[in-house]
Amino acid sequence: MSTDAQKPDSITLVRPDDWHLHLRDGAVLESVVMHTVHQFARAIIMPNLKPPVTTVELARAYRDRIAAAVARQNTHKHPFEPLMTLYLTDNTSPDEVVKARESGFVHGFKLYPAGATTNSDAGVTDLLGKCSPVLEIMQDAGMPLLVHGEVTDPDVDVFDREAVFIDKVMVPLRHRFPALKVVFEHLTTADGVAYVEQAEGPVAATITAHHLLYNRNALFKGGIRPHWYCLPVLKREKHRQALLAAATSGSGRFFLGTDSAPHPKGLKEHDCGCAGCYTALHAMELYATAFDAAGKLDRLEGFASLHGPAFYGLPVNSGTLTLKRAAYQVPAELPMADTQVVPLAAGESLAWMVDD
Ligand code: DOR
Ligand code: ZN
Repeated sequence: MSTDAQKPDSITLVRPDDWHLHLRDGAVLESVVMHTVHQFARAIIMPNLKPPVTTVELARAYRDRIAAAVARQNTHKHPFEPLMTLYLTDNTSPDEVVKARESGFVHGFKLYPAGATTNSDAGVTDLLGKCSPVLEIMQDAGMPLLVHGEVTDPDVDVFDREAVFIDKVMVPLRHRFPALKVVFEHLTTADGVAYVEQAEGPVAATITAHHLLYNRNALFKGGIRPHWYCLPVLKREKHRQALLAAATSGSGRFFLGTDSAPHPKGLKEHDCGCAGCYTALHAMELYATAFDAAGKLDRLEGFASLHGPAFYGLPVNSGTLTLKRAAYQVPAELPMADTQVVPLAAGESLAWMVDD
């Protein structure tokens, strides 16, 4: 119970959703999915499998595999609904948008600029040039476009790729399709925050816990830290501050998306380490720690549980999730398939803990 409105000992939220999640497939899916089920009622499932989830039929089969993995393990009996997405390619047919809308379980198309990140080789090479007929139908159908907002031009500095994307892709896209619903995924810069705040029309953004808690110094603290490496990469402190202000502002345009992205420990601690932070285990602990540090715990429910459903046109969840103020020790590693995954902030202590 709370003893002081500013410093509550526990908070109870409408059960939250994760609006950006990588679950992978097979044995990895089996190992990670219950971490999400434990905290969230629903999650937007990213389609960057190998091969990518490009059709409603592939999404249906993937959704069945997720449901089966949950059913095998759901001892808590929390209901969990995977919200599926399709991977947009140069060859996506307008028909697929109609099928997606009719399916009732596909809630967006994900734009990966070709080569931008993990498993993005099949991504889009020229958005307006190749995908305009598809975007037109998405706009008419109210089908959201979920955007990995980074240009891939190797001549653009890796820390500037989001800002350049806004000018080169986002502005022309929204000019051509002003009524298209767009989610700017894993926003990482003050430029992105300003864009989303000011854009006309249905634009929103997800924000990860790691971009709220860390700046780019975390990548180099005492040596190179591969478990803090993700894409878009962590930015300067002024960007973290802008993201925290946006997430805690109460604006319905910003909502929770972990971008939890499991990679085997050995492929992170590698000469060419994979991008992705594993946060599904302790997502709400991380977000609560960030909101508490900003003195804005009262804004966590809107960000985690209310703004996302409103943007996607889905009902708010009926259950709740309680967090208590207690030291939560992040484990050093967890079993994943036949290897291990290292959660973000492994070995550190967080200020909040999910209360079962
Ligand atoms: O860090 C990331 N990891 N960023 C992405 O965009 C993809 C993700 C992954 O799938 O591993
Ligand atoms: Zn992602």
